[in-house]
Amino acid sequence: MSTNTVVKTNNLSLFYTPREPILKNINLEVTNGEFVFLTGKSGSGKSTFLKSIYGEIAIGSGEIIVNGFRMKNISKSNLSLLRRHTGVIFQDFKLINEWTVEKNVMLPLIIAGYSKEVCTHQAKKLLTHVKLLQKAQNYPLELSGGEQQRVAMARALAHNPKLIVADEPTGNLDEFSSNIIWNLLKNVKEHLGSTIIVVTHKIPSNLSIEYKQYHLDAGTIHEIS
Ligand SMILES: Nc1ncnc2c1ncn2[C@@H]1O[C@H](COP(=O)(O)OP(=O)(O)O)[C@@H](O)[C@H]1O
Ligand SMILES: [Mg+2]
Repeated sequence: MSTNTVVKTNNLSLFYTPREPILKNINLEVTNGEFVFLTGKSGSGKSTFLKSIYGEIAIGSGEIIVNGFRMKNISKSNLSLLRRHTGVIFQDFKLINEWTVEKNVMLPLIIAGYSKEVCTHQAKKLLTHVKLLQKAQNYPLELSGGEQQRVAMARALAHNPKLIVADEPTGNLDEFSSNIIWNLLKNVKEHLGSTIIVVTHKIPSNLSIEYKQYHLDAGTIHEIS
C-alpha cells in the first residue's frame, strides 16, 4: 500500500445478517486527492459501503484501511482521531435542531478544541461559501431542505478535512442548492487537495473535474471508465 493511499479494501464483505453479504469481496483503492463517485441502484449498498469508511458498521470479512487505520477492531480513540480528519455529509443532514446554524457549523471545531475566535471566523467563512451567512443565527428547522443540506456541507468542511464522504448530498435538492454543493466540493478538491467520495444518483454534467466512477451492482463493484 503506498503512502498515497487513503482508502483501501481487500476482499471486503459487509453484512447486516450473517446469511447474505450486502457487499462481497470488494477491492478498491482511493488515492490522495481523488474525486470518486459511487453509483448504483437504490439498495445496492452505497450507504453501507460509506459506513465502512467512517466506522459505522462492523467489518464482516476482508479488510478496509482508512488513512492507515484498519477499520476492523479499530480502537475508540483511533476512530475519533480518524473522524476528526473526516468530513461526513449524510442524506438526512443530521443537524442539531436546538443549535443555531452557526453553532452547527462550528461543531467539528468545538470537538477539536479550537478557540471561540477561530470557530466563529471559520463558521462565517463556510456560511459565506454556502450563501447562508444571513441565516447564521437561525435554527435548522427554520430553513428549507436545500438550506439545511448546505449547512451540513459547511459543517462537514469546517475543519478542512483531508477526507470527505458524502451520501447523496444533492439527493432532493433544487438546482440552486445542488450547484452550490458541487462547486464547493470541486473547490475543496482543487484548493485543499482533499480526497472526496460521493454517492450520487446523477453525476453532474457540468462539473469539469477529473473523477473516477465506481458502480455497485449485485454486491460487487466495478470502475466505469
Ligand atoms: N441497518 C440495516 N439493517 C439491515 N439491513 C440493512 C440496514 N441498512 C441497510 N440494509 C439493507 O442493505 C442493503 C443496502 O442498503 P444501502 O447500503 O442503504 O443501499 P443504498 O445506499 O445503495 O440505497 C439494502 O437491501 C438494505 O435494505
Ligand atoms: Mg443510501
